[in-house]
This record gives sequence, C-alpha cells and structure tokens, in this order.
Amino acid sequence: MKPAKRPKLTRIPPELACVSDYEHLAKDFVPHSVYEYIAGGGADDISLHSNRRAFDRIELFSRVLSDCTGGTTALSLLDEPFRHPVLLAPVAYQKLVHPDGERATAQAADALQAGFIASTMASVSLEAIAAELSGNKWFQLYVQDSREGTLSLLRRAEAAGYTALVVTVDAPINGLRNRAQRAGFALPQQVQAVNLGGLPQSSPPSLGAEHSIVFQGLMASAPTWADLVWLRRQTALPIIVKGILHPADAVRVADMGLAGVVVSNHGGRTLDGLPASISALPAVRAALGPDFLVLLDGGIRRGTDVFKALALGANAVLVGRPQVYALAVAGALGVAHMLRLLREELEVTMALTGCPTLAHITMDALYPSEAWTGLD
Ligand code: FNR
Repeated sequence: MKPAKRPKLTRIPPELACVSDYEHLAKDFVPHSVYEYIAGGGADDISLHSNRRAFDRIELFSRVLSDCTGGTTALSLLDEPFRHPVLLAPVAYQKLVHPDGERATAQAADALQAGFIASTMASVSLEAIAAELSGNKWFQLYVQDSREGTLSLLRRAEAAGYTALVVTVDAPINGLRNRAQRAGFALPQQVQAVNLGGLPQSSPPSLGAEHSIVFQGLMASAPTWADLVWLRRQTALPIIVKGILHPADAVRVADMGLAGVVVSNHGGRTLDGLPASISALPAVRAALGPDFLVLLDGGIRRGTDVFKALALGANAVLVGRPQVYALAVAGALGVAHMLRLLREELEVTMALTGCPTLAHITMDALYPSEAWTGLD
C-alpha cells in the first residue's frame, strides 16, 4: 500500500460544505486502492448508484408559515433516547484511512451524541471503541463459523456495555468487488479484524470439480434462520437484523420476536442488481405495521435524504461511507463535522416542510409521486 498523499486537516476549510465534498476530497488523503475498496459497490455498481438515484427522484412538499419553535430531532429507539436519527453504520477496517481508526470515529459520535454501531470487523477492539462512547452504542455481529466464536463476541459485547446487537445477514459471501480488485486492493499487515483474533476460523474445504465452491464451500457454514433462533436464546440484548429488503423476510424477523430490521443492500456492495434500499422501504414498513423498529441505510448524503427515509417509514438512518471519507480527511474532527452537517440539514428540511418533530414527518411531506411507491 502506498502512503497516503496528504496529512489530515486540523481545521475545516470552507470548501467542505456538505457530506459529498468529503467523498471527493478523500481521494487526496488515501491510496487509490483503499479509496476504491471503500467507494466501490459490487460488480458494476448498479445498486450503489440506484441508492443515490432513488433518493434524488423523491421530491419534498414545502409547508409555509408553520410555527416550528421548540422543534427537536430527539427520538427514542428501543427505549433509548437519541439526540437525532442519524447513526454511524458498522464499517470495517477504519485504520485503513486513519491511524486511530474506529477510536476516532467513536470520539466524534460521542461529541455529536450520535449512535454508534461497532463492526465485528473493526480494526480497533470492541472494548476500546466502547470506552470512547458515553452514549448509545450497539454492536454489529457477524455470526461466526462456530457457535463458540459467536458466543465469545456476544459476551464481550455485553460486558463492554453495548445495548443492542445488529446482526448482519446479507453478506454471507463477499460481493464481486471488481473495483477494489482492479485497483489491486489488499488488506495491509497493520490493519486487522482484531475482534476475531484467537477465534476459531474454518478454512474453506478443498473440493473436487464436481462440487460447487459456493454451495458446498463458502455457503456451507453461512448462518441460517435457525442461527437467529439460537442467538435470541443466548442474550437479553435486543437483536436488530441488518440487510433486509424483502417484506416477507422482515415479517419473519418480527414473528421471531426480534427487535428490528435495517433495510439495506449493504451500500450496494453485495449482490449487484438489488433495488435501492429506499425503494424497498415502503413495502417493508407496510408489512411490519407502524410500531416495529425499521432503520435504513444506503446513499444517505444529505439531511433531505434522512427526511425522505423517515417520511417513507424509517425510524432512523445509518451512514456508512461518509464517516470513512470524513475520517480520512480530518480525523475525529471531520467525522464530527460531517455528522453536524447532516443534523443541521435535517433541521432546515424540517423547518421548511413545517415539521417541528420527527413524528410530523410523514408521507404527506413528500410530493406525491410514483418514485416512492416501491416500483423502482
Ligand atoms: C461496510 N458495511 C458493513 N456492514 C456491516 O454490517 N459490517 C461491516 O463490517 C461493514 N463494513 C463495511 C465496510 C465498508 C468500507 C463499507 C463502505 C460498508 C456496510 C455499511 O454498514 C452500510 O450498510 C453501507 O455502507 C450503507 O451505505 P452508504 O451509507 O455507504 O451509502
């Protein structure tokens, strides 16, 4: 890996006016192969681009002369108070872009009172991340090959004070990361999934040509619904299932007594050709009814995107790549600034649509259009 090109910024310059400015500037701060690993989607980036295009097609409906004094973005998720509905999505290997990695991102989340979801694949231990967070912290769990490995992560997360588990189910096999591959991306020695150190990892069996490398190889140890049933019995922590697009899968999660879903196509990084997550949201919300916890991620880059997701039924949203771009450019300061931009843009959007609280944000705040009927 070639060294990064520019030292981190210690002040925020005026040209960093919105979240996507970080995306463009990040190219100057990280090696090309790392940028391609982070920015890329799966295969041809179709789902990656759909995530953004679908948001851009949704229009807002202004309401004038509304009294928004006393407005607030505060909310409650799983009986925990949150200052605003923007959480940091689990994103692996953040030391790729900053020597402090997830520790710096967690410091920014703490300063801005944003919820933080620590990845199983973090390059800083889940305990060190938790130590930076005085507020909301959830742990993203990848079910391990062995139950012993999964239980070990679970017990450590409980002991470190995480208050919910976000179990990611949409990536049992890596997507075709063609951009990262073309750029020659390889994980450098000093960046490791440190939480997995010492856990038993099975290596894929060597198979004869008559066997499928996918079905008898990689998927042989992939989690199934039965693993979620087992997991629920092991912990009192609420379990949120991340990576749901189909309403029937969402209903199955609810029927199992789990706590919530994240409507997500993994930032377009798994199966290319999946719909935009925002396109899948209305049908999931309709299937689950008004009270079940539904989060959304994929393509959130503006406060207006947060607003649109809430209007279409999400309780809150997660941001993925923007936190890594901001971390790459200006460390914890950049991540805090990025979060503040999103929060302030959301407040402006609420004010101009006559929505003083999140409860006021409904489909009535969107200009009627087929763009949000789920028929992508
Ligand atoms: C991810 N994502 C992810 N998800 C997860 O559950 N565990 C993980 O370790 C990771 N790692 C990861 C690394 C990188 C570099 C990216 C870009 C994404 C997916 C992430 O949580 C989220 O679903 C998407 O990033 C949301 O899309 P946006 O906000 O990046 O458009």
